[in-house]
Amino acid sequence: MIFNLGSINADYFYSLPHLPGPGETLAATGMKSGLGGKGANQSVAIARAGAEVCHIGAVGNDGQWLVDRMTAAGVDTRHIHLSRHPTAHAIVMIDGQGENQIVIFPGANHDQNRDVVEKALANGQRGDWLLLQNETSLQVEAAMLAAGKGMNVAYSAAPFHADAVSSLLPFLSLLILNEIEARQLSQALGREVLHLPVANVLMTKGAKGADWHDTRLMQTTSVPAFPVTAVDTTGAGDTFTGYAVAGISTGLSPQTALRRAAAAAAISVTRLGTAEAIPTLAEVQAFLD
Ligand code: RIB
Repeated sequence: MIFNLGSINADYFYSLPHLPGPGETLAATGMKSGLGGKGANQSVAIARAGAEVCHIGAVGNDGQWLVDRMTAAGVDTRHIHLSRHPTAHAIVMIDGQGENQIVIFPGANHDQNRDVVEKALANGQRGDWLLLQNETSLQVEAAMLAAGKGMNVAYSAAPFHADAVSSLLPFLSLLILNEIEARQLSQALGREVLHLPVANVLMTKGAKGADWHDTRLMQTTSVPAFPVTAVDTTGAGDTFTGYAVAGISTGLSPQTALRRAAAAAAISVTRLGTAEAIPTLAEVQAFLD
C-alpha cells in the first residue's frame, strides 16, 4: 500500500510557437486543461501501474472535478480534504519541441491538515510506503509519523530545494532526483549523494535512462530510456516515479520496476497533458513487447 501526501493542481496548457522571453506577449495556438500536480500525477501513475494508492491532499471548493478524476483513475481519495484556500493551479507553456515552462500557484496544497494526515497514516503498516514531493506543506510531519510506524518513506525531490531534502533525510528509505538536483544537493551538503544515509537513491538521467543505487550494498542497476518523439514532456518524471515506486512497493526487482517506469514515461511524452497522458500497465506491457 502506498500513501501519497501530494499536490493536486488544475493544469492549464498553452501550446506556443516558442517559450516566451522577458516582456514578450505570445498568442497560444492551442489550450487545454486537466488534472495535474506532481502528487496527483504520481498517484495516478501508481494506480495505473496496478498498485494500491491512498492520496492525502487538499483542494478548495473549486477542485471537486480534480478529485473525481483521481477517483476515476483508481486512486483512494477519501483523505483529500476541503481547504478554505483555492485549489492550486499550474500554467504550463509548451513549445513545438515538447519542452515546457511552468508557473505554479500553490493554493490549497500549502494548507494540508495535520489531523487528516494522522488519520490517513493511522491505516499505514510496517512495510507500507509514504511518498512525498516538494509541493505540499507537512512533509516532515508526515515523514516522521510514517517512519515511526516502520513504513518506507520515498521522496521525489521536486521542485528541488536542498533545505527540504535535508529536513527529510533522517526519515528516507528512497530519494528520487535527477542528475542536476543530485549535483545541487551534493554541493549544498558538501557530500556525494551516494554517501548520504539513505538506503536507496533513484537517479533519473533523461535520455540516458535511470540508475537505482543500493547505497548499502554499493550496487547499481541501470536502465536505458526509450527513444520517442516528444509532444509534451510535462509530467514524464511523475509518471516514471509513480511507476517505479509502484513496482518496488509490490516486490518487483529494481530492473523490472525501472524498465516499466521508463516505458511508461516514454509513452507519456508522446501525449499532450499530465495525468491524462499516463499509460495503463496494459499499454506499458504492449509497448515493452
Ligand atoms: O511535474 C509536472 C507537474 O508539475 C504539473 O502537472 C504541474 O501541475 C506541476 O506541479
